[in-house]
Amino acid sequence: MSRKRVAVLISGRGSNMTALIAAAKAADYPAEIVGVISNRLDAAGLKYAASAGIATVTLDHTTFGKDREGFERTLHHELQSHQVDIVCLAGFMRLLTPWFVQQWAGRMLNIHPSLLPSFKGLHTHESAIRAGVKIHGATVHFVIPEMDSGPIVAQVAVPVLDSDTPDALASRVLVAEHRLYPLALRLVAEDRTRIVDGRCHIVGVATAEQALVVPDG
Ligand code: GRF
Repeated sequence: MSRKRVAVLISGRGSNMTALIAAAKAADYPAEIVGVISNRLDAAGLKYAASAGIATVTLDHTTFGKDREGFERTLHHELQSHQVDIVCLAGFMRLLTPWFVQQWAGRMLNIHPSLLPSFKGLHTHESAIRAGVKIHGATVHFVIPEMDSGPIVAQVAVPVLDSDTPDALASRVLVAEHRLYPLALRLVAEDRTRIVDGRCHIVGVATAEQALVVPDG
């Protein structure tokens, strides 16, 4: 089996990146993390990635000023030079232009901390509590030009408790995200996803567990 070459794009903490690195250590995992790219010099995730022996690149978007395309062309060049097959956005806080998204169409994933299409954008946990939903969660989806949209690969459900604060809910969702992203990347790296009418079908899906992670107990 040839493993897919994956780059993870981060802007901060990098806990999802860490989960992907951990998953990719397994000999039977279909992807390897070949690089971590941050648009922020101070992203904590960079240190962890370097200590795990993974190539790191910092591309400070502020040095490009308003030249969003210049930043993205440099990013695209970096990804190509590492012969990347799949890009995983993991807390990467930059909006990407349609040009960049098109370069990586069907090969770029994002993780968002809500059950999309509910609660796009920031402050998802606060919004979920305010809306009074009983189930919240996270989504991994293919990236399209529209923010927090695109064919959904997999989701994880997390119950909302009456006593929840946004922080308490966020930390339970984050633990669930760390299960979800490796599972979703596995499906894509094994070439088991097909986009049909804007939806992501999973080839040979045997159990709901492969597209939906439900809480234990
Ligand atoms: C996660 O909640 C992710 O869903 C969102 O940004 C956060 C990144 O956290 N897109 P981390 O950097 O992976 O710890």
